[in-house]
Amino acid sequence: MSYSQLISITSMNSHYKINFFWILLLFSSVLFACKSEDAVAPIPKPDIKPDTIVPLDTTGLRKVSPFPFGAALSIDLLKTKAIYRSTVIKEFNSLTPENVMKMKNISLGRGQYKWDDADYLVLFAQQNAMRVHGHALVWYKSTPDWVTNFVGTKEDWKLILHEYIVAVVGRYKGKISSWDVLNEAIMDDGTYRDCVWLQHIGIEYIDLCFLYAREADPNVLLFYNEYGTEYSTAKRTAVNKLVADLKGRYVPIDGIGLQMHTSISRANSDIQNAIAVAAQTGLKIHISEFDIKVNPDKLQDIIFNATLAAAQKEKYRITVKALFDLPASQRYGFTFWGVCDTNSWIPAEYGCPDWPLPFDSNYKRKDAYSGLLEGLK
Ligand code: XIL
Repeated sequence: MSYSQLISITSMNSHYKINFFWILLLFSSVLFACKSEDAVAPIPKPDIKPDTIVPLDTTGLRKVSPFPFGAALSIDLLKTKAIYRSTVIKEFNSLTPENVMKMKNISLGRGQYKWDDADYLVLFAQQNAMRVHGHALVWYKSTPDWVTNFVGTKEDWKLILHEYIVAVVGRYKGKISSWDVLNEAIMDDGTYRDCVWLQHIGIEYIDLCFLYAREADPNVLLFYNEYGTEYSTAKRTAVNKLVADLKGRYVPIDGIGLQMHTSISRANSDIQNAIAVAAQTGLKIHISEFDIKVNPDKLQDIIFNATLAAAQKEKYRITVKALFDLPASQRYGFTFWGVCDTNSWIPAEYGCPDWPLPFDSNYKRKDAYSGLLEGLK
């Protein structure tokens, strides 16, 4: 209220003054009621326990699985496409941000952060009783230019790594369940991948990522996430060796994410072996980015037919079963990289048509979906 408004009110006759008093009183009590309600509004607590088992065709994966099912979510689709949003809410009790929690998306400069998209997903998860798996604190493919161009000593580099990890993990402390702390740090030949952190800090950067994340949130689960352990023995061995080394140095690590971007031509035994070998570490296993290509030869004129659908269904079945067969404490969850075929990253990435996900372009459950259910038996 401006000064001149106040003057004109004080000069009203007494009748209006009294009315005005009551209106003011009413208005401020309404305001107070709203405000105090806001202040005490309970934050919805994610409940990721499987719900009561009900007939399969009326319910989603979240209700029939003993471990969480999830998907990598696109914030734009969630905001704009109702069927995408309703499918996610019905089927899944875990979500991974497909892009918005990557360093390039969050970190605009030293000490400058863009939180709005990540915050939106965390709130969406809270409102729909889903857990959030953060992805990914450090990934060589998501290094902002200001980091690539940073000039400083080894200690300076440790400092910017520390600042970033503590800021991000700290912001979502208690709100998200787990993080891919480090993504794709090992090459197919089992050697460490080159990246700015390795160049400027040395191999110690790996320990530091996990230590800094733990420092920022003592309870969040920390994962190492990798692709290709189903086809590369060297990489599979190197991942387990990394885990053993970390544990040997008392560096905290709770789980391994196996991305499992694979195809109908991958042998069942390769997939099963990748899961079984990772599980030998005793850590939690997350099938973290699952999709099954049906067009591994990148044909341009291919049509998705019943034979391809059946082959895909079988890969879905055996992968879920391999996770299901682990001890319950090691079954962290099963996450698709996208929801329906039209929002998969595969066609753009490989430059050819494909149908890798459990829902078709109309969000109808594919044969692959039945494969998932069979894998849970
Ligand atoms: C991909 C996203 O799906 C794309 O939208 C983005 O353009 C590039 O990244 N392994 C990972 C994921 O760990 O973060 C990648 O996601 C796919 C490969």
